Amino acid sequence: MCQLDQRSSGVTETRVVSSENLKEIRNAIRNKYAEVSVSAAGKFQYPTGKDGAIALRYDSDIIKSAVPSLLDSFCGVGNPFSLGKIHHGEIVLDLGCGAGFDLFVASRLVGENGRVCGVDLTEEMVERAKNNLAGANISNVEIKKVDSENIPYSDNAFDVVISNGVINLSPSKNICFKEIFRVLKPGGRLQFADVVLENALPADLSGSLEAWSQ
Ligand SMILES: C[S@@+](CC[C@H](N)C(=O)[O-])C[C@H]1O[C@@H](n2cnc3c(N)ncnc32)[C@H](O)[C@@H]1O
Repeated sequence: MCQLDQRSSGVTETRVVSSENLKEIRNAIRNKYAEVSVSAAGKFQYPTGKDGAIALRYDSDIIKSAVPSLLDSFCGVGNPFSLGKIHHGEIVLDLGCGAGFDLFVASRLVGENGRVCGVDLTEEMVERAKNNLAGANISNVEIKKVDSENIPYSDNAFDVVISNGVINLSPSKNICFKEIFRVLKPGGRLQFADVVLENALPADLSGSLEAWSQ
């Protein structure tokens, strides 16, 4: 069992999710993002791919230098790099790295003395990210598949955790944040972009697996 937090209109509602439901939610997320790993085109109600990166004001030189497959599956909802500078030599974790565009950006910012790690729930995304980064000749990156909110790194391992459109998908946000703060070094930074509900979802959507994975 785990706790599920849904916030809408400033009200926090806490429900308990059975392990059966948790499994269903994770499977729905994996199914959706296995498809997105092929291409994000037409699968979201906001700009994705290269158009999304341009709309979110990613550095234009970095966008130009990215191979098309790094951008095809990009479905970030914001720009974590706009929230603070990432320095040469830092160690960065991307939680829910998808096909690797934010890993590519971070690897450019930390340089060859830095390191970038990505984790993702969806096998196909992990494979896509590994291929994309190998194709871009990026060697300071490692990517791991995860099966839960547990982050497979030791305490105090990272200077910065970035995340883009992922924490809203988690049915166990408390665990997610605890894990992020566990792996951050003292004084480390969390720079994330995400989706929040402003109004309660209609009843037919609030229990829908599809709505969880949007
Ligand atoms: C909206 S996509 C964003 C991907 C990437 N950050 C980007 O900007 O293109 C969400 C990603 O989070 C992954 N994901 C969802 N829940 C996760 C979790 N609990 N831990 C790790 N990855 C997760 C999904 O598999 C998917 O690749």
